[in-house]
Amino acid sequence: MGKIGKLQKFAEVTAFSNCYERAAELKGKWATHVFKNNNPITLELACGKGEYTLGLAKRFPDRNFIGVDIKGNRIWKGAKYALENNMHNVAFHRIMIGNIEDYFAFGEINEFWITFPDPQHAKKRKRLTNPMFLQRYRNISNPHPIMNLKSDSTRFYEYTLEVIAEQNLEVFENSDDIYQLDAIPEYLANIQTFYEKIWLEDGKKIKYLKYKL
Ligand SMILES: C[S@@+](CC[C@H](N)C(=O)[O-])C[C@H]1O[C@@H](n2cnc3c(N)ncnc32)[C@H](O)[C@@H]1O
Repeated sequence: MGKIGKLQKFAEVTAFSNCYERAAELKGKWATHVFKNNNPITLELACGKGEYTLGLAKRFPDRNFIGVDIKGNRIWKGAKYALENNMHNVAFHRIMIGNIEDYFAFGEINEFWITFPDPQHAKKRKRLTNPMFLQRYRNISNPHPIMNLKSDSTRFYEYTLEVIAEQNLEVFENSDDIYQLDAIPEYLANIQTFYEKIWLEDGKKIKYLKYKL
């Protein structure tokens, strides 16, 4: 079969049983109505094609994973893979992250991943690790959830470190070049996103931060 276009992906993704679009009715009900278990839920924010959602879901079958992005044609790839491989601990949700509190309830989320977000050099207010976004994440999670950030951007990484310092947050892992580490968690090296592969080919160093919100 040939490549399918953006419009067809948009049409298909809305019909996928593991994809939700602005599903405010599921706020507080992801465990009971979607996953049908009480396993902890991780959100991958700005997930694109959902490589971390899928990769972590395979490695941690006792956890649930939701990939969040605004672009349906990107989500399509991860959602299709999850359906074809009967991955019952995976879902995707098409929403704007700025509105995330409309779609998830306090205490519902346990951990976050952000992989290769747009660095938003010109607009601090749009950076997904700014204090305003961090508060939104806290408002939908259990107290002190874990945040994981993987990024190619030195400026974005340094900005995130400034926010961490300002808020006196506990840092578990901090690397400005993960592939130079002596010991790197398997999932950090072996799950590479669409954008990570592009930046690696460009010779960029990949940064990683794991911290408590
Ligand atoms: C550079 S791409 C990274 C995608 C993927 N994580 C990767 O590493 O390949 C950034 C993604 O963030 C999404 N995005 C940016 N701002 C967003 C927002 N406010 N709400 C939802 N998605 C957003 C875009 O649609 C895009 O898919």
